[in-house]
Amino acid sequence: MHFLITAGPTREALDPVRYLSNRSSGKMGYALAAAALAAGHRVTLVSGPTALPAPPGAAFLPVTSAAEMAAAVATALPSADVAIFAAAVADYRPAHPAPHKIKKTPGALTLTLEPTPDILGSARAAGFSGLLVGFAAETENLLANARQKLLRKGCDLIVANDVSGSATGFDADDNEVTLVFARGPDRPLPRASKLALAEIIVGACTELMVPSPSMSLPPASYLPAAVDAARQAGALIKANYGSDLGVNETLQYDLKLELDVRAQALITDILLAAFPQHAIYGEEGLAGDQSSDFQWIVDPIDGTVNYFYGIPHFCVSIALRRGQDILLGVIYDPMLDELFVAEKGGLPTLNGKPIRVSPRAHLAEAMITVGFSKNKESIDNGMRRFSRLLTQVRKTRMLGSAALGMAYVACGRLDAYIEEVISLWDVAAGILLVETAGGRAPLFVKDAALQKYSMCCSNGLLPLADIETEMGG
Ligand code: CTP
Repeated sequence: MHFLITAGPTREALDPVRYLSNRSSGKMGYALAAAALAAGHRVTLVSGPTALPAPPGAAFLPVTSAAEMAAAVATALPSADVAIFAAAVADYRPAHPAPHKIKKTPGALTLTLEPTPDILGSARAAGFSGLLVGFAAETENLLANARQKLLRKGCDLIVANDVSGSATGFDADDNEVTLVFARGPDRPLPRASKLALAEIIVGACTELMVPSPSMSLPPASYLPAAVDAARQAGALIKANYGSDLGVNETLQYDLKLELDVRAQALITDILLAAFPQHAIYGEEGLAGDQSSDFQWIVDPIDGTVNYFYGIPHFCVSIALRRGQDILLGVIYDPMLDELFVAEKGGLPTLNGKPIRVSPRAHLAEAMITVGFSKNKESIDNGMRRFSRLLTQVRKTRMLGSAALGMAYVACGRLDAYIEEVISLWDVAAGILLVETAGGRAPLFVKDAALQKYSMCCSNGLLPLADIETEMGG
């Protein structure tokens, strides 16, 4: 793999002889470069000024300022698989560096500083979809600040270190850090040399890129069948979109199409042909061996009413669970040809590219989708909640497909999806997508006998605890 690593401080010129900088020695970044090289990876090291020798074997790009570092990173980022930003980039630079040496004058000298480019923070916007690792040097609230930084900058991993003491952190040979993962529990590491820590960090990156056998549940063979079933059913419903549709049943607020049944039959055939011992639990009924530990949860057309009215927003949703454990989820939008895939322990993707939830933490900037179910109590509850949220959030949307709503939360297009009464087939794949993308998707039992649930899923940052509590959390 190709590791791009930034290291060292940057220097921001005040005049031709003076600069603003910090105490970074570059030791951590250079140790990471050495560890990645030792593990057999290709390394590009972009380094600010340090006293350290360039690691033999690395492509070495020396820079001085934050702007130069940003430019060097931009050249290497498109070919990198892993980007580790260990540099202590100056956050500000003199807005008007003097062309000549500033002469001493009596009285105070006032400097105007302007922000430097946030190199780590703009990697995702620049289209980088590989593994993104940042460092957080904090003097207070280490883990909370590190997690905020992780979400804000779209990282997969933040290496958090407390720089309030002197024995570790800047310029020291040892360090004591906690690995804060986007998907997975924090991992505090004991105090160790920067080289030893670098080996652990490079190892963690390699594991995240190539999930270990214990993480890569389920076995890969389940996924191709699920994707095949979702794509084939998607093609069937797309081919019939806009044609005269047979309506099987019209309920007070809902309808069921003959095509729902045909699409589920197609999915059932594909899945049971591959896994004859498994069970199917779908919106259009049960099939297979219902005593099986493995259950495919299928919604052949999520958004049937949209489909019927010619609104091109609907999808196929398929999840596989073993017991209560959802192992994989696939959501396919045939109109946009968008395939969302999540596997337990892996990185969720949209058309093969990793996705993550949005970093928006305030309701005022949030885009929320809600759904209303078909009974009076849930409509009343939903309306009360909806009118409260309407005044607090930037925008609300009623999109008509729970599964796509959750897929959109998982990829950061939406910030939350809330619905009082839904069925498992509406949300099973979405739950795994949102959770593996770093969000929250708690499922609350609404009516155990009718197998109805409530869902308040979000990027995990919005203050929606009151809604979760109302729903029974
Ligand atoms: N970083 C960067 N470019 C910058 C500033 C920081 O790439 N201009 C990277 C660092 O290499 C590090 C991470 O961002 O991996 C954390 O930097 P920090 O300055 O602590 O983050 P900020 O978002 O500036 O947060 P804070 O408010 O804590 O300064």
